[in-house]
Amino acid sequence: MTLVTGATGTTGRRVVAALEALDVPVRRASRSLSGFDWADPTTHDAAFDEVEALYLMAPVGEADPLPVVEPVLRRALDRGLRRVVLLSSSLIEPSSSGYGGLATLVREAPEWTVLRPSWFAQNFTGDHAVAAGVRAGRVLTATGAGRVPFVDAGDIAAVAAAGLVGTAPGEQLITGPEALSYDEACAVAAGVVGHPVEHVSVPPAAFVDHLVEAGLPRPMAQVLAGLDELIAAGAEDRVTDVVARVTGRPARPLDTVLRAALG
Ligand SMILES: NC(=O)c1ccc[n+]([C@@H]2O[C@H](COP(=O)([O-])OP(=O)(O)OC[C@H]3O[C@@H](n4cnc5c(N)ncnc54)[C@H](OP(=O)(O)O)[C@@H]3O)[C@@H](O)[C@H]2O)c1
Repeated sequence: MTLVTGATGTTGRRVVAALEALDVPVRRASRSLSGFDWADPTTHDAAFDEVEALYLMAPVGEADPLPVVEPVLRRALDRGLRRVVLLSSSLIEPSSSGYGGLATLVREAPEWTVLRPSWFAQNFTGDHAVAAGVRAGRVLTATGAGRVPFVDAGDIAAVAAAGLVGTAPGEQLITGPEALSYDEACAVAAGVVGHPVEHVSVPPAAFVDHLVEAGLPRPMAQVLAGLDELIAAGAEDRVTDVVARVTGRPARPLDTVLRAALG
Protein backbone atom coordinates (compact mmCIF):
# COMPACT_ATOMS: atom_id res chain seq x y z
CA MET A 1 0.00 0.00 0.00
CA THR A 2 1.20 3.51 -0.83
CA LEU A 3 0.03 6.37 1.41
CA VAL A 4 -0.26 9.82 -0.18
CA THR A 5 -0.43 12.59 2.41
CA GLY A 6 -1.63 16.02 1.31
CA ALA A 7 -3.80 14.09 -1.15
CA THR A 8 -6.14 17.04 -1.83
CA GLY A 9 -3.23 19.40 -2.48
CA THR A 10 -1.60 20.74 -5.63
CA THR A 11 0.98 17.95 -5.81
CA GLY A 12 -0.80 15.24 -3.79
CA ARG A 13 -3.84 14.89 -6.02
CA ARG A 14 -1.57 14.66 -9.06
CA VAL A 15 0.59 12.03 -7.30
CA VAL A 16 -2.58 9.97 -6.65
CA ALA A 17 -3.54 10.21 -10.34
CA ALA A 18 -0.04 9.24 -11.49
CA LEU A 19 0.03 6.19 -9.17
CA GLU A 20 -3.47 5.09 -10.21
CA ALA A 21 -2.35 5.25 -13.84
CA LEU A 22 0.42 2.81 -12.86
CA ASP A 23 -2.13 0.52 -11.09
CA VAL A 24 -0.43 1.08 -7.72
CA PRO A 25 -2.77 0.63 -4.71
CA VAL A 26 -3.13 4.08 -3.09
CA ARG A 27 -4.52 5.33 0.21
CA ARG A 28 -5.26 9.09 0.24
CA ALA A 29 -4.82 11.12 3.44
CA SER A 30 -5.64 14.67 4.50
CA ARG A 31 -7.75 16.26 7.25
CA SER A 32 -10.78 16.97 5.04
CA LEU A 33 -10.51 13.74 3.03
CA SER A 34 -9.81 11.00 5.59
CA GLY A 35 -9.46 12.72 8.98
CA PHE A 36 -5.67 12.20 8.93
CA ASP A 37 -4.01 15.07 10.80
CA TRP A 38 -0.25 15.23 11.38
CA ALA A 39 -1.02 17.03 14.65
CA ASP A 40 -3.46 14.34 15.96
CA PRO A 41 -1.74 11.06 16.95
CA THR A 42 -5.09 9.22 17.18
CA THR A 43 -5.40 9.45 13.37
CA HIS A 44 -1.98 7.99 12.47
CA ASP A 45 -2.12 4.21 12.96
CA ALA A 46 -5.12 3.66 10.68
CA ALA A 47 -3.54 5.76 7.93
CA PHE A 48 -0.20 3.89 8.08
CA ASP A 49 -1.62 0.36 8.41
CA GLU A 50 0.26 -1.95 5.98
CA VAL A 51 1.88 1.05 4.26
CA GLU A 52 5.20 0.30 2.54
CA ALA A 53 5.64 3.56 0.56
CA LEU A 54 4.84 7.13 1.62
CA TYR A 55 4.46 10.46 -0.21
CA LEU A 56 5.41 12.79 2.62
CA MET A 57 3.82 16.19 2.41
CA ALA A 58 4.57 17.90 5.72
CA PRO A 59 1.87 20.05 7.37
CA VAL A 60 1.69 23.35 5.48
CA GLY A 61 2.41 26.58 7.32
CA GLU A 62 4.73 25.02 9.93
CA ALA A 63 8.11 26.79 9.78
CA ASP A 64 9.62 23.65 11.41
CA PRO A 65 7.51 20.52 10.80
CA LEU A 66 10.15 18.09 12.17
CA PRO A 67 8.83 17.79 15.76
CA VAL A 68 5.37 16.86 14.43
CA VAL A 69 6.47 14.53 11.63
CA GLU A 70 9.45 12.72 13.21
CA PRO A 71 7.59 10.51 15.75
CA VAL A 72 4.98 9.55 13.13
CA LEU A 73 7.64 8.59 10.62
CA ARG A 74 9.73 6.62 13.12
CA ARG A 75 6.70 4.58 14.21
CA ALA A 76 5.73 3.91 10.58
CA LEU A 77 9.30 2.73 9.79
CA ASP A 78 9.09 0.35 12.76
CA ARG A 79 5.80 -0.99 11.35
CA GLY A 80 7.14 -1.82 7.87
CA LEU A 81 7.36 1.44 5.91
CA ARG A 82 10.28 0.99 3.49
CA ARG A 83 10.20 3.80 0.95
CA VAL A 84 9.69 7.53 1.62
CA VAL A 85 9.34 10.27 -0.99
CA LEU A 86 9.58 13.70 0.66
CA LEU A 87 8.28 16.88 -0.96
CA SER A 88 10.96 19.45 -0.09
CA SER A 89 12.11 22.51 -2.06
CA SER A 90 14.96 23.32 -4.42
CA LEU A 91 16.57 25.83 -2.07
CA ILE A 92 16.33 23.58 1.02
CA GLU A 93 19.52 21.64 1.77
CA PRO A 94 19.67 18.90 4.44
CA SER A 95 21.73 21.42 6.45
CA SER A 96 18.98 24.10 6.31
CA SER A 97 17.10 24.77 9.55
CA GLY A 98 13.42 23.80 9.69
CA TYR A 99 12.57 21.76 6.58
CA GLY A 100 16.21 20.65 6.22
CA GLY A 101 15.75 18.41 9.26
CA LEU A 102 13.05 16.45 7.42
CA ALA A 103 15.34 15.87 4.43
CA THR A 104 17.94 14.43 6.84
CA LEU A 105 15.36 12.28 8.65
CA VAL A 106 13.97 10.55 5.53
CA ARG A 107 17.48 9.34 4.68
CA GLU A 108 17.02 6.87 7.54
CA ALA A 109 14.38 4.98 5.51
CA PRO A 110 15.68 1.88 3.66
CA GLU A 111 14.76 3.62 0.36
CA TRP A 112 14.21 7.37 -0.01
CA THR A 113 13.71 10.16 -2.52
CA VAL A 114 13.93 13.86 -1.66
CA LEU A 115 12.05 15.95 -4.24
CA ARG A 116 13.55 19.41 -4.52
CA PRO A 117 11.23 21.22 -6.95
CA SER A 118 11.65 24.83 -7.91
CA TRP A 119 8.68 27.20 -7.64
CA PHE A 120 5.42 25.75 -8.97
CA ALA A 121 3.94 27.04 -12.26
CA GLN A 122 0.59 26.52 -10.46
CA ASN A 123 1.41 29.48 -8.17
CA PHE A 124 0.11 31.57 -11.10
CA THR A 125 -3.28 29.76 -11.01
CA GLY A 126 -5.75 28.92 -8.22
CA ASP A 127 -5.51 30.25 -4.65
CA HIS A 128 -1.85 31.27 -4.43
CA ALA A 129 -0.94 34.92 -3.72
CA VAL A 130 0.82 35.17 -7.11
CA ALA A 131 -2.38 33.99 -8.82
CA ALA A 132 -4.37 36.64 -6.96
CA GLY A 133 -1.78 39.15 -8.20
CA VAL A 134 -2.21 37.94 -11.78
CA ARG A 135 -5.98 38.47 -11.49
CA ALA A 136 -5.44 41.95 -9.99
CA GLY A 137 -2.76 42.85 -12.58
CA ARG A 138 0.04 43.37 -10.02
CA VAL A 139 2.36 40.69 -8.58
CA LEU A 140 4.54 41.63 -5.61
CA THR A 141 7.82 39.81 -4.76
CA ALA A 142 11.26 40.59 -3.36
CA THR A 143 13.01 38.75 -6.20
CA GLY A 144 14.31 41.72 -8.24
CA ALA A 145 15.48 40.45 -11.63
CA GLY A 146 16.32 36.99 -10.25
CA ARG A 147 15.24 34.04 -12.38
CA VAL A 148 13.16 30.97 -11.41
CA PRO A 149 12.70 27.76 -13.47
CA PHE A 150 8.94 27.47 -12.75
CA VAL A 151 7.91 23.78 -12.79
CA ASP A 152 4.57 22.10 -13.49
CA ALA A 153 3.07 20.31 -10.45
CA GLY A 154 2.14 17.46 -12.82
CA ASP A 155 5.82 17.01 -13.67
CA ILE A 156 6.70 17.03 -9.95
CA ALA A 157 4.01 14.39 -9.37
CA ALA A 158 5.37 12.22 -12.18
CA VAL A 159 8.83 12.25 -10.57
CA ALA A 160 7.20 11.58 -7.16
CA ALA A 161 5.34 8.55 -8.57
CA ALA A 162 8.62 7.22 -10.01
CA GLY A 163 10.18 7.65 -6.56
CA LEU A 164 7.28 5.77 -4.95
CA VAL A 165 7.70 2.77 -7.27
CA GLY A 166 11.46 2.81 -6.71
CA THR A 167 12.75 4.15 -10.04
CA ALA A 168 13.87 7.64 -8.93
CA PRO A 169 15.93 7.25 -5.75
CA GLY A 170 18.00 9.94 -4.06
CA GLU A 171 17.82 13.73 -4.38
CA GLN A 172 15.89 15.05 -7.37
CA LEU A 173 16.28 18.75 -8.18
CA ILE A 174 13.20 19.34 -10.34
CA THR A 175 12.85 22.37 -12.62
CA GLY A 176 10.85 23.54 -15.58
CA PRO A 177 12.51 23.91 -18.99
CA GLU A 178 13.68 27.54 -18.60
CA ALA A 179 14.43 30.06 -15.86
CA LEU A 180 12.36 33.27 -16.05
CA SER A 181 12.41 36.47 -14.02
CA TYR A 182 9.07 37.46 -12.48
CA ASP A 183 8.94 40.30 -15.05
CA GLU A 184 9.15 37.67 -17.81
CA ALA A 185 6.77 35.24 -16.08
CA CYS A 186 4.19 38.01 -15.56
CA ALA A 187 4.46 38.85 -19.26
CA VAL A 188 3.71 35.18 -20.03
CA ALA A 189 0.70 35.31 -17.68
CA ALA A 190 -0.49 38.56 -19.24
CA GLY A 191 -0.39 36.96 -22.68
CA VAL A 192 -2.62 34.14 -21.41
CA VAL A 193 -5.17 36.12 -19.36
CA GLY A 194 -5.35 39.00 -21.84
CA HIS A 195 -4.78 41.93 -19.48
CA PRO A 196 -1.57 43.63 -18.26
CA VAL A 197 0.21 41.97 -15.30
CA GLU A 198 2.89 44.10 -13.69
CA HIS A 199 5.65 42.69 -11.47
CA VAL A 200 6.73 44.94 -8.59
CA SER A 201 9.82 43.96 -6.59
CA VAL A 202 10.05 45.47 -3.08
CA PRO A 203 12.74 45.21 -0.36
CA PRO A 204 12.50 41.98 1.74
CA ALA A 205 11.30 43.79 4.91
CA ALA A 206 8.43 45.39 2.97
CA PHE A 207 7.58 42.00 1.47
CA VAL A 208 7.39 40.46 4.97
CA ASP A 209 4.97 43.22 6.06
CA HIS A 210 2.89 42.65 2.92
CA LEU A 211 2.64 38.88 3.60
CA VAL A 212 1.74 39.45 7.28
CA GLU A 213 -1.00 41.91 6.21
CA ALA A 214 -2.26 39.18 3.86
CA GLY A 215 -2.62 36.86 6.89
CA LEU A 216 0.63 34.84 7.01
CA PRO A 217 2.31 34.23 10.38
CA ARG A 218 5.45 36.43 10.61
CA PRO A 219 7.95 33.48 10.91
CA MET A 220 6.57 31.96 7.69
CA ALA A 221 6.58 35.37 5.96
CA GLN A 222 10.24 35.76 6.92
CA VAL A 223 11.08 32.33 5.47
CA LEU A 224 9.38 33.24 2.17
CA ALA A 225 11.04 36.67 1.99
CA GLY A 226 14.40 35.01 2.67
CA LEU A 227 13.81 32.66 -0.26
CA ASP A 228 12.98 35.66 -2.49
CA GLU A 229 16.30 37.24 -1.45
CA LEU A 230 18.10 34.08 -2.56
CA ILE A 231 16.26 34.21 -5.90
CA ALA A 232 17.27 37.85 -6.31
CA ALA A 233 20.90 36.79 -5.76
CA GLY A 234 20.62 34.23 -8.60
CA ALA A 235 20.40 31.04 -6.50
CA GLU A 236 17.49 29.66 -8.53
CA ASP A 237 18.78 30.56 -12.00
CA ARG A 238 19.32 26.98 -13.17
CA VAL A 239 17.68 24.19 -15.15
CA THR A 240 17.98 20.41 -14.67
CA ASP A 241 17.00 17.47 -16.92
CA VAL A 242 15.34 15.48 -14.09
CA VAL A 243 11.80 15.54 -15.54
CA ALA A 244 12.98 14.33 -18.96
CA ARG A 245 15.37 11.76 -17.49
CA VAL A 246 12.85 10.26 -15.03
CA THR A 247 9.64 10.50 -17.09
CA GLY A 248 10.96 10.25 -20.66
CA ARG A 249 9.19 13.44 -21.77
CA PRO A 250 10.24 17.11 -21.58
CA ALA A 251 9.25 19.39 -18.69
CA ARG A 252 6.20 21.56 -19.49
CA PRO A 253 6.88 25.28 -20.05
CA LEU A 254 5.06 27.91 -17.92
CA ASP A 255 3.16 29.14 -20.97
CA THR A 256 1.72 25.65 -21.66
CA VAL A 257 0.66 25.16 -18.02
CA LEU A 258 -1.01 28.59 -17.84
CA ARG A 259 -2.81 28.17 -21.18
CA ALA A 260 -4.26 24.84 -19.99
CA ALA A 261 -5.38 26.32 -16.64
CA LEU A 262 -6.33 29.92 -17.50
CA GLY A 263 -6.54 30.22 -21.28
N1 LIG B 1 4.46 26.55 -4.18
C1 LIG B 1 5.71 26.44 -4.53
O1 LIG B 1 6.21 27.17 -5.40
C2 LIG B 1 6.60 25.42 -3.85
C3 LIG B 1 7.89 25.23 -4.35
C4 LIG B 1 8.70 24.26 -3.78
C5 LIG B 1 8.21 23.50 -2.71
N2 LIG B 1 6.96 23.73 -2.22
C6 LIG B 1 6.48 22.92 -1.09
O2 LIG B 1 5.24 22.41 -1.41
C7 LIG B 1 4.44 22.41 -0.24
C8 LIG B 1 2.99 22.56 -0.65
O3 LIG B 1 2.63 21.44 -1.43
P1 LIG B 1 1.25 21.39 -2.20
O4 LIG B 1 1.15 22.65 -3.01
O5 LIG B 1 1.09 20.08 -2.85
O6 LIG B 1 0.24 21.48 -0.97
P2 LIG B 1 -1.15 22.27 -0.86
O7 LIG B 1 -1.82 22.37 -2.18
O8 LIG B 1 -0.90 23.47 -0.03
O9 LIG B 1 -1.98 21.21 -0.01
C9 LIG B 1 -1.67 20.89 1.32
C10 LIG B 1 -2.21 19.50 1.61
O10 LIG B 1 -1.84 19.12 2.94
C11 LIG B 1 -3.02 18.79 3.68
N3 LIG B 1 -2.75 19.23 5.05
C12 LIG B 1 -2.48 20.50 5.49
N4 LIG B 1 -2.28 20.49 6.82
C13 LIG B 1 -2.40 19.20 7.22
C14 LIG B 1 -2.33 18.55 8.50
N5 LIG B 1 -2.08 19.22 9.65
N6 LIG B 1 -2.49 17.20 8.55
C15 LIG B 1 -2.76 16.50 7.43
N7 LIG B 1 -2.85 17.05 6.21
C16 LIG B 1 -2.69 18.39 6.11
C17 LIG B 1 -4.14 19.55 2.97
O11 LIG B 1 -5.40 18.90 3.07
P3 LIG B 1 -6.42 19.17 4.31
O12 LIG B 1 -6.59 20.65 4.42
O13 LIG B 1 -7.65 18.41 3.90
O14 LIG B 1 -5.76 18.56 5.50
C18 LIG B 1 -3.70 19.43 1.50
O15 LIG B 1 -4.05 18.15 1.00
C19 LIG B 1 4.92 23.59 0.61
O16 LIG B 1 4.87 23.22 1.97
C20 LIG B 1 6.33 23.79 0.14
O17 LIG B 1 7.23 23.27 1.09
C21 LIG B 1 6.13 24.66 -2.78
